[in-house]
Amino acid sequence: MKKITTISRFEVLKNRKEILKNPLPFHAKYFQEHGHTFRINLGKKNTWVFTKNPQTIKYILQKNHKNYQKSVLQTDDLGKYVGRGLLTSNGAFWRKHRRMIQPSFHKKKLVGLLDIMVESIQRELVELKPNIEQDILPMMGDMAFQVVAQSLFSASDLRKRMQKLKDITIENQQMLIKEMRLPYLKWWFQMTGEIRHHLKSSEEAKSILNTIIEERIDSGKEKDDLFDMLLGATYEDGTHMPRKQLIDEVLILFTAGHETTANALCFTLLLLAKHKELQERLYLEVHNVNFEKGNVMEQLSLLPYTKQCIEEAMRLYPPAYFFDRSSIEDDTIDDVAYKKDTVWLLSIYELHRHKDFWQQPEAFNPDRFASQNKRDFSDYYFPFGAGPRMCIGNNFAMYEMIIIIAILAKRYSFTTPLEKIEIDPLITLRPKKAVLKFIPR
Ligand code: HEM
Repeated sequence: MKKITTISRFEVLKNRKEILKNPLPFHAKYFQEHGHTFRINLGKKNTWVFTKNPQTIKYILQKNHKNYQKSVLQTDDLGKYVGRGLLTSNGAFWRKHRRMIQPSFHKKKLVGLLDIMVESIQRELVELKPNIEQDILPMMGDMAFQVVAQSLFSASDLRKRMQKLKDITIENQQMLIKEMRLPYLKWWFQMTGEIRHHLKSSEEAKSILNTIIEERIDSGKEKDDLFDMLLGATYEDGTHMPRKQLIDEVLILFTAGHETTANALCFTLLLLAKHKELQERLYLEVHNVNFEKGNVMEQLSLLPYTKQCIEEAMRLYPPAYFFDRSSIEDDTIDDVAYKKDTVWLLSIYELHRHKDFWQQPEAFNPDRFASQNKRDFSDYYFPFGAGPRMCIGNNFAMYEMIIIIAILAKRYSFTTPLEKIEIDPLITLRPKKAVLKFIPR
């Protein structure tokens, strides 16, 4: 049996302040010093293994996925705020709901949502102020939230209530980050009632959703939107989802679907702002597109370069920059024995910049995803994960992002005063600032 390097608890504690602020430089340093897989021992039965080895990542996510489940952070900790559903469950419960919800996200079904997406994007873009420098992360967050909201509950005037839902989702996520980064203060958050306050907000969010759902069902109207698909979905025995479950799944779609998309959009726009010549090339592709007229799907198929820019931005800045899994049984990987309950941290950020797999990994080069150059990236490119728990909204997100980037690049050229794109690795990877100026063309 081989052994991997173990980093001591002392070493981690010594650097804890810096690690809590931004763990990525430490991951990079340890990978450089100790190879593609290393272990951190945090005390009795508390072992974390970090890897950027693509074979190991695929093995855990795909080949032997049955032995690896989401950790407590993604299930119990997140679940206490957003409920128990696709994103936050494991095992048979998860499988049952994945099977049920998956058909609603098939490409064929999504085609019916494209017009709704375009409409809500256009509506949100009215808010964009031209010719001034502004941090567009909040706006992209609003837009991504509204796109999910309108795709779920089309043709409803929900803006105000959605704003409240969005505020609650963001505040609860911030609380979760605090709990994650300051685990030794959990008792304090309990004592001061901070956690209780956020749990109450969650109940408020669920109650808002319940009212929306009730209004919708009472209206008796069929809308052919995502909510109708979820309402119509059945378990294997032909029964429908109970109301409580429906609410949890909807809240989870909001949580999973808005921040990741907003971050990817901001990174794409920032990178294009820093690469003027690529932005001009993008303009040549998008300047004739008009989503309001004609078939949206056909127009999307005419935008390969737009798609490549987004793919390349998600290589450099994957919004889901690491995945975690906890092993159910002992396992042996690459001749190394691992005990059950080992927590695995799969570093997608490091893998996407791994020099063994990417030429000039730090460069923004959308051409690597061009069909004529495209190698099979499926072994080392995982912006949406891999295996049975791969993102259910990946096609939804790609369509949405292509539409947004195409509309923006057609209407405006954009610049950024930022010298460097700085990152903020929280639950998702986001830019610290996404300051851009949009100049009408
Ligand atoms: C750029 C945008 C997005 C990115 C980068 C992204 C990324 C991911 C990743 C990496 C996972 C798997 C995590 C893991 O295996 O631990 C995931 C899961 C998930 N995503 Fe996304 N996502 C995006 C957009 C969306 C959208 C728009 C929706 C829904 C409208 C969505 C819904 C979900 C759900 C429900 C899961 C859990 C699936 C399951 O466990 O079965 N995501 N996402």
